[in-house]
Amino acid sequence: MESNFKKDVCEGLSKENKTLSSMYFYDDEGSRIFQEIMAMPEYYLTNCEYEILSEQGKAIGENLSYTQPFRLIELGAGDGTKTFELIRNFQENGYEFEYLPVDVSRGALDSLEEKIKSSNLEVKYQLMQGDYFEVLNALPQDKPALYLFLGANIGNYNPAEALDLVQRIGSNMRSGDHLMIGFDLKKDSSIVHKAYDDPHGITKRFNMNLLTRMNRELGLNFDLNQFDFVCNYNPDNGEIRSYLKSLSDQSVGVNGSAFYFKKGELINTELSKKYDLEEIELLAGNSGFNVKSNYLDKNNYFTDSLWVKKQGQLK
Ligand code: AVI
Repeated sequence: MESNFKKDVCEGLSKENKTLSSMYFYDDEGSRIFQEIMAMPEYYLTNCEYEILSEQGKAIGENLSYTQPFRLIELGAGDGTKTFELIRNFQENGYEFEYLPVDVSRGALDSLEEKIKSSNLEVKYQLMQGDYFEVLNALPQDKPALYLFLGANIGNYNPAEALDLVQRIGSNMRSGDHLMIGFDLKKDSSIVHKAYDDPHGITKRFNMNLLTRMNRELGLNFDLNQFDFVCNYNPDNGEIRSYLKSLSDQSVGVNGSAFYFKKGELINTELSKKYDLEEIELLAGNSGFNVKSNYLDKNNYFTDSLWVKKQGQLK
């Protein structure tokens, strides 16, 4: 893991337009700060998806039209709060299903299990630890399934990566299986901006923690006072990009190799793409799915988009 981190950091900081992968935000401290982000009123995404799953979970279940027991497979363990609402609705409808959260992190699955146990949900579940695709490949295809990829995580992939991801998920699905993806929708720039460049400085801390992590794990010597956090939303393509900005000409290095930063130079740390319904339709169509329904929150800020795997695809 650490050697991938080192390799990715070296590659990313050697590019003309410097980048770091947002997956490296999530060390223990980064995961804790992300919880703070999700609790901020400005970060509307969490509340929108909670509203959708709690208020429309019943309709989502009915739309699946499954008459036999099915699997509810969640990619990413999440913190359970939103998915539990969907599960609660499914249980109220009397459906028979098993919940399979999939995550690479044992810690994330363990804390989800704690939450399942301390909730009043009596759900059959199986924790699946491992790489998404290895886990999906190994699952028997003997029951219908609803796959979940929630939380607007898809927005952290560029469009080509997002297409590749949903195609790979789909290649493990049977026709008639469903995939529900949480997409944050394009909206007024000031709303998006406030969610990512928050007035409390929490998202700034989230980004700065990446410098602390590189110092600690890779022995680098970033001076945190010499970097600031900026982000920029392009309402045309829906891309909000976060950056760490160098406040001076400086070099950061270890063992003779160094990375040079000009004053004002940016490191792109994250993409959080916002979609419109046409783009969602296109992504589904290009990856072997039909959009069955879009479930939007009351403000039309967010959609949980329910897709069905088309006939005639592999598996
Ligand atoms: C995890 N992911 C969907 C979050 C997002 O909205 O892109 C990560 C995040 N970055 C800054 N705020 C939240």
